[in-house]
Amino acid sequence: MTAAPPHIQRIAHPDFTQDLDITREELLNLLDLAADVKRSPELYRTSLAGKSIALLFEKPSLRTRMTFELAIQQLGGFAILNEGPIGSREPLKDVARNLDRWVSGIVSRTYLQKTVDDLARWSSVPVINALSDTWHPCQALADMQTLREHFGSVRGLKFAFVGDGNNVAQSLMLICARLGMDFALANPPNYNANADIIAQAKGIAAENGSTVTVTNDPAEAARNAHAIYTDVWASMGAENEAAERRTAFAEYQVDEDLFAQARPNAIFMHCLPAKRGEEVTDAVIESPRSVVFDQAENRLHAQKALLLMLLYTGQNQ
Ligand code: CP
Repeated sequence: MTAAPPHIQRIAHPDFTQDLDITREELLNLLDLAADVKRSPELYRTSLAGKSIALLFEKPSLRTRMTFELAIQQLGGFAILNEGPIGSREPLKDVARNLDRWVSGIVSRTYLQKTVDDLARWSSVPVINALSDTWHPCQALADMQTLREHFGSVRGLKFAFVGDGNNVAQSLMLICARLGMDFALANPPNYNANADIIAQAKGIAAENGSTVTVTNDPAEAARNAHAIYTDVWASMGAENEAAERRTAFAEYQVDEDLFAQARPNAIFMHCLPAKRGEEVTDAVIESPRSVVFDQAENRLHAQKALLLMLLYTGQNQ
């Protein structure tokens, strides 16, 4: 007999295909729940008993795949994995409607955002975006949990992202704006985040008393930051551009000099995997102020909270 898990508010939206599928209030509740799940995992060990969840991965993964499998298992559910292209043997809408008959939820890592959106459209069970070309919302949840652990409150912090204006940067931009953090992106010319997403994030930041700024100057973004974040220069799917990107991003490496522009107590963050000697030096990623493995650990806890808020039905066997 396990005590009933406390504090589980269901997310109103049926899916989590992008950061804004949850409200600001739900996000704050999710981060509280993630902290509780981390503190007291035993309270939740049967919360998803009887539920099977499909993991569909078109791209490689260490952290996302392992932490979703572990999260589902540690919540009492069952994870079933399918690797490879989604919707190549048969129409995607048929894949979704097959899964619909077997599982209680779908976790999907795709090349195209449209693939995860179509899975959500054609299935009635919750669909979670485990990374697409546009978003990496589960990473952003874990990163906010990590910042909260480190700084207590995140409102008013300055968060600098140095590198490609990619899916990770775009999710972080929105979530930081929502939580009242000043978000500064420094990317090379021609490696911009999506202009509509920047405009949307600026609007959200204004509602929350914070700012979103975009520059080509890494020192400007890093100055007085509480956290400096970077990601690989050539994301999955852009590997054939690696050589030209090494040239374009050469001034955007997070090294000791750039890290020194931030506050003395600033932390270094990276979603991993990292390429030492490219986007970050070994000295910075291995420094005592690097929290990259806390971020990786929190993927487990934040995703447990997300699964609970999408799938928990109160039938705690
Ligand atoms: N950060 C992240 O998503 O890692 P994986 O690609 O290993 O899942």
